[in-house]
Amino acid sequence: MSTSAGYQSPVVTVATALPRRKVASSVLIVPVVSSGDDDGRATVVANPFLDAEAVGEIEVALEALGAKGGGEQVTRIVVPALPVSSVLAVGLGKARDEWPAETIRRAAGVAARSINGVENVFTTLSAIDLEATIEGLLLGAYRFTEFRSGKTAPKDTGIRKVTALTADTKAATKDSAAHAEAVAVAVATARDFVNTPPSHLFPDEFAKRAKALGEAAGLSVQVLDEKALAKAGFGGIVGVGKGSSRPPRLVRLEHRGGGRKAKKVALVGKGITFDTGGISIKPAANMHHMTSDMGGAAAVIATVLLAARRNLPIDVVAYVPMAENMPSATAQRPGDVLTQYGGTTVEVLNTDAEGRLILADAIVRACEDDPDYLIETSTLTGAQTVALGARTPGVMGSDEFRDRVAGISQSVGENAWAMPLPEELKDDLKSTVADLANVSGSRYAGMLVAGTYLREFVADGVEWAHIDVAAPAYNSGGPWGYTPKGGTGVPTRTMFAVLEDISVNG
Ligand code: BES
Ligand code: MN
Ligand code: ZN
Repeated sequence: MSTSAGYQSPVVTVATALPRRKVASSVLIVPVVSSGDDDGRATVVANPFLDAEAVGEIEVALEALGAKGGGEQVTRIVVPALPVSSVLAVGLGKARDEWPAETIRRAAGVAARSINGVENVFTTLSAIDLEATIEGLLLGAYRFTEFRSGKTAPKDTGIRKVTALTADTKAATKDSAAHAEAVAVAVATARDFVNTPPSHLFPDEFAKRAKALGEAAGLSVQVLDEKALAKAGFGGIVGVGKGSSRPPRLVRLEHRGGGRKAKKVALVGKGITFDTGGISIKPAANMHHMTSDMGGAAAVIATVLLAARRNLPIDVVAYVPMAENMPSATAQRPGDVLTQYGGTTVEVLNTDAEGRLILADAIVRACEDDPDYLIETSTLTGAQTVALGARTPGVMGSDEFRDRVAGISQSVGENAWAMPLPEELKDDLKSTVADLANVSGSRYAGMLVAGTYLREFVADGVEWAHIDVAAPAYNSGGPWGYTPKGGTGVPTRTMFAVLEDISVNG
């Protein structure tokens, strides 16, 4: 097994003009807007890269096909005057003076997903927003083919090269393109991890891949194995992991980018490589979705790699607890009591509430490093999906930092929403035998109860945020915008944007 799972991101370049000679196996993505009414027609968004003749040909062809330029509508046409095999018009809906980045990202993603068997992609969408265009294109171009044999593997190589047309190719423009590319590569790394099946990604293998990628990126990496975990008192990770023949791990990856006064951010991600529920076993229907129960870990690893790649001038230390939650003769039982790292005792009333057990250990350990901020993310509760749906992560934590994370998440299009941690929920976690129970007796507010549990383990003075991505990390429906089926990479872009914001604003 290779450490980088299959997917090769396209090469990105910027250019100020279309090539003179015809490019084989190529397509030009052109944004169009609608006049708004039903019998209206699609109009090419003005840009300096297409002359009036080309624009006229495109608009005539679109009218003949009945294309109206509605949002995310794509139409493929042949325009002999242009140096490309075909043109892909992508609708942006009604014309406007300014475009939200997410509209451009999604249009680019839809365009990328509708391109098959073409290697070279050119686009004038980048004249509106270069970075959003490249990000959306690369995120939409993602595919995961590692486990397809010749019988069903795609025959084409996918998109190999993206050329974004821009007004200039100055250093700042090139850096915007490089930024978008680096972000998309990180998201692909997270998606690859989530999409790798539990047969092939178990704690030891996950830790090895994280270590290999981390060391290649210049991070310092340590891995604790099951013996070291038991010796140091990581009772949550050990307790959850002991039902599996594949023992647990705790990975620490550190990026040192800051000077003496720089901020330090801890990241923690839930790495349950498969969640059967344990002895409190889950029903069979859709249990296979629990291959995504390491989505938080995947995003945390991708984010710290990206922080190194982009040389963020802060310190970032990532803790990733990894375990497989299995029922067996050695598994923990409902009613068992374990001791979390740091000494808190917990009555495990439900072995399916395992995420909080491994996370509590990792949060206590992360706080020993004295971070200014702590961001923890996990596919933690089905209640997230009940409350917010499949695409909206819930953020809980310190009021101010929680709101900052939610706002930044919305600006990058991952759309996390701030949720409260009402004081009274703590009473629901009282145990008759231990300091805490791992579940409440109530059916209400499951996402917030889980957040309340985690809050117990965050050290005083650490600004923290918990992002529940139970459904947003894994798209079990059809593809949309730049989001494929399967692993989505959420919340990698949120966490990285928060790190960038902290780098600038403290
Ligand atoms: N990994 C699940 C949460 C989950 C559910 C993620 C659906 C993605 C999709 C978590 O470990 C879990 O089982 N949570 C329980 C908690 C309950 C026992 C308090 C849940 O949500 O049912
Ligand atoms: Mn569970
Ligand atoms: Zn779980």
